[in-house]
Amino acid sequence: MAEMMLKPGSGKQAIVSGASLAMDEEPELLSLRPERLDDYVGQPEVIETLRIAIEAAKKRGEPLDHILFHGPPGLGKTTLAHIIAGEMGSRLTVTSGPALEKGGDLIGILTHLEEGDVLFVDEIHRTSKTVEEFLYPAMEDFAVDFVFDKGIHARSHRFHLSRFSLVGATTRVGLLSAPLRDRFGIFRSLDFYSEDDLVRIARRSASLLEVSIDEDAALELARRSRGTPRIINRLLKRVRDYAEVKGDGTITRPVVQAALALEGVDQEGLTDLDRRYLKTIIEFYDGGPVGIEAISATLQEESDTLVDVVEPYLLKTGMVLRTSAGRRASERAYRHLNLTGPQRRLF
Ligand SMILES: Nc1ncnc2c1ncn2[C@@H]1O[C@H](COP(=O)(O)OP(=O)(O)O)[C@@H](O)[C@H]1O
Ligand SMILES: [Mg+2]
Repeated sequence: MAEMMLKPGSGKQAIVSGASLAMDEEPELLSLRPERLDDYVGQPEVIETLRIAIEAAKKRGEPLDHILFHGPPGLGKTTLAHIIAGEMGSRLTVTSGPALEKGGDLIGILTHLEEGDVLFVDEIHRTSKTVEEFLYPAMEDFAVDFVFDKGIHARSHRFHLSRFSLVGATTRVGLLSAPLRDRFGIFRSLDFYSEDDLVRIARRSASLLEVSIDEDAALELARRSRGTPRIINRLLKRVRDYAEVKGDGTITRPVVQAALALEGVDQEGLTDLDRRYLKTIIEFYDGGPVGIEAISATLQEESDTLVDVVEPYLLKTGMVLRTSAGRRASERAYRHLNLTGPQRRLF
């Protein structure tokens, strides 16, 4: 079975089964995860919605409404699921769409849930159709329908579940079926973080890692982390290593610049893959418009990776534009790569 159970309050996790953990579940990052709503930096509207929903549910003594989070990787969806369970004082069970292959996988998890438990389903858009069919009655009526035998002898039995809260996370809300999306009482999108928020996250993480970072360095790091907490934490660790080996351990702006040059992260936070993506559009396809499958074939990268990981930030900064005919590189992208702009075309 593909699930992981976390006990409330203890801060310790008991892994029920040895499912492989997603990149963001790496234990070393867990220590940097905020554990309470009060520690969560940024996304004020999302946090306010959750604060109200949690307080209201607690007052009524009811489980929380099902909640769906949408947004690019690394913005805090999994973190919020942990926080919600913590604030509700509930147990958290973690699984993901791809891990639930058969209806039985989900039923096994659902029947083990207790009143008020939080079930976190990551990458919920990758849940199979059959598993999804079991989710509907589970979310709506807290029940699963078992079917025995086949054909004319088929009988079904309704099994009642404890009332739980489902927290779903997805990078692609467009791939979620409408019936599934509609069964969530709360739906919130996470946006890229502002420079101010990222500076706060850098300083918070630096203090947890017990490394000193000055104001300029925190700002430099914030500017180069693509609006993403996970990236700032990852870069901070690389910069810390660099500062300890090449300097006196203090993180200053020159240290950040030198360490990130080594990582291939440029002034705008773009990585080698980001630049290759832009260059493909510009050099192979004349600046576009070009379809994602063509870019993916030229780059030899999964189109899912490009859509989920690479494109959101490039779209956000306006380096890439999405048109009905495909992706286009903007003037900004040309400037960033020190290339001359596209020839003006009439059509
Ligand atoms: N609002 C936040 N404040 C501080 N750190 C955060 C915040 N959101 C995310 N993080 C950090 O970023 C990392 C990635 O977040 P995560 O919740 O795993 O993202 P997602 O599930 O959306 O991919 C976490 O381990 C945590 O350390
Ligand atoms: Mg996650």
